[in-house]
Amino acid sequence: MDISHFSERINQTLSTLEYGQKPDELYAPIRYMMELGGKRVRPLLTLLGAYLFHDDVEKALMPAIGVEVFHNFTLMHDDIMDNAPLRRGKETVHEKWNTSTAILSGDVMLVRAYEFFLGIEPAKLPTALQLFSTCAAEVCEGQQLDMNFESRNNVQIEEYLHMIKLKTAVLLGFSLELGALLNNAAPEDARHLKEFGINMGIAFQLRDDLLDVYGDQAKFGKRVGGDIVSDKKTYLLLMALERSSSTQRKELEKWQGPVENGQELEKVKAVKEIYDELNIQNLTQNQINHYFQKGLHHLNEVNALNSKKELLRQLAIQLIERDN
Ligand code: IPE
Ligand code: IPE
Ligand code: MG
Ligand code: MG
Ligand code: MG
Repeated sequence: MDISHFSERINQTLSTLEYGQKPDELYAPIRYMMELGGKRVRPLLTLLGAYLFHDDVEKALMPAIGVEVFHNFTLMHDDIMDNAPLRRGKETVHEKWNTSTAILSGDVMLVRAYEFFLGIEPAKLPTALQLFSTCAAEVCEGQQLDMNFESRNNVQIEEYLHMIKLKTAVLLGFSLELGALLNNAAPEDARHLKEFGINMGIAFQLRDDLLDVYGDQAKFGKRVGGDIVSDKKTYLLLMALERSSSTQRKELEKWQGPVENGQELEKVKAVKEIYDELNIQNLTQNQINHYFQKGLHHLNEVNALNSKKELLRQLAIQLIERDN
């Protein structure tokens, strides 16, 4: 069995889904967003998590789809908050339609996400819904912190790590935990698996921050430099501030805050130059490796066939080496 078997099952299922018909202005953006593709990481984690504890993962399929729909809802709203023009190489929903449409279509996606959980066996449904709701609220908490940090200039690395744990990592943790729950994992195994997901999620967001500066836009599918333009307090910026000389620091501080129209590229270039001088790319890569290793330790603790755990190790490697 390999990862592609599970990916195909997910893609097959996604291609048959209906989200609703009328009014078209509400549902067309959902189809657009879902059909843009994406790596489908989270449903894959749910299926691979379930597979550790039972060969048959069919029970986990629709809940896994629910997690992917929820993720796409967060992206639709995140793009409004981040003023992002591009997603998966195409226009974002709020640009193609408008912000109100992106808000409302996103809302329906959250509602539909819950519906995909309804087939979970009754004995497990309350637990699954409670874990999901807790996770979803944490994602919102992380998103709010991310926005709060835009206008702060004293954000600490610890605060940043807490923020990305909430906005990104807990959903990867939940995806795995859900698969474990549905296929009857022992609580201790589910806990280690979730910790594996959270640590991989932190590494995943660090990689995302890195690609936002150093990625190839054609592959990344998002506007490169967007985090710099919107003063995101990424690991790269915080490390640069920590390690900068007083001249470099003044330069970084000079660029914080909105710039005049047309000056964005200059801002990105100036900040990136300092990152290069300070070798920030390597420092970020080291931090990615740290969380990757920490995650693997937790995966090793899970009682399951090593050949099954190997699929999750492979996926984790793909995620931290990705360029999209
Ligand atoms: C993007 O998630 C948001 C982050 C948490 C960085 P993905 O990188 O999983 O996006 P898609 O679904 O593959 O497009
Ligand atoms: C995304 O963080 C986290 C969520 C969508 C919840 P980013 O804002 O960095 O994600 P991208 O880069 O737009 O995909
Ligand atoms: Mg964001
Ligand atoms: Mg964003
Ligand atoms: Mg990003």
